[in-house]
Amino acid sequence: MFGLGKTEFMVLEAGPDDHSAIAKLHEASFPRGWSKSEIMNLADQKGVTLLVAREVGSQSGSVAGFNLIRQTPEEAEILSVAVAQKFQKQGLGDRLMRDALLRLRGDRVGSLILEVDSQNQSAIYLYEKLGFKTIANRPGYYKDKADNGNRLPLTALVMRLDLV
Ligand SMILES: CC(C)(COP(=O)(O)OP(=O)(O)OC[C@H]1O[C@@H](n2cnc3c(N)ncnc32)[C@H](O)[C@@H]1OP(=O)(O)O)[C@@H](O)C(=O)NCCC(=O)NCCS
Repeated sequence: MFGLGKTEFMVLEAGPDDHSAIAKLHEASFPRGWSKSEIMNLADQKGVTLLVAREVGSQSGSVAGFNLIRQTPEEAEILSVAVAQKFQKQGLGDRLMRDALLRLRGDRVGSLILEVDSQNQSAIYLYEKLGFKTIANRPGYYKDKADNGNRLPLTALVMRLDLV
């Protein structure tokens, strides 16, 4: 458990009751949202772990943040991580990432990779603080909308953290 002011939070594996709230948070956090069934299908895949952060004492289905990780024996990937806006910049993203790192190190996974929009300063700051290094650039990987509605290419950074 950990606290943000008076509120205590815990990180645990998500259950089926959380999928709907996770889909809503994903939709609010990214240009291309994932539906509840997409979240469920991903969470059911072999080697996939879905973590949620929620207030202590709150019921399942109450989600302040989530972290979706896929692992093989050699390498893991963050598929998606987000914290609800009202809980951001208080350490929840850091906590969700560190929980994943603990689990992966426990499983002796060699490294963790992720892709992040090169303009996403909050996420890049968090990943660099955890020791991730940029290993590649992928221009045009993400698409954003300009004022005129046209799609704009954005660059993705591929970042990696060696775990062992
Ligand atoms: C990226 C995200 C998960 C970070 O979650 P968070 O709970 O706000 O992160 P934390 O509070 O744990 O912050 C971690 C570190 O980053 C810093 N940080 C957070 N936002 C920051 C910002 N906008 N500018 C500078 N530093 C920032 C924090 O200060 C903290 O560092 P510190 O411990 O040295 O103070 C959150 O911003 C989010 O959900 N964004 C939308 C979805 C997204 O972009 N996900 C990542 C996709 S790759």
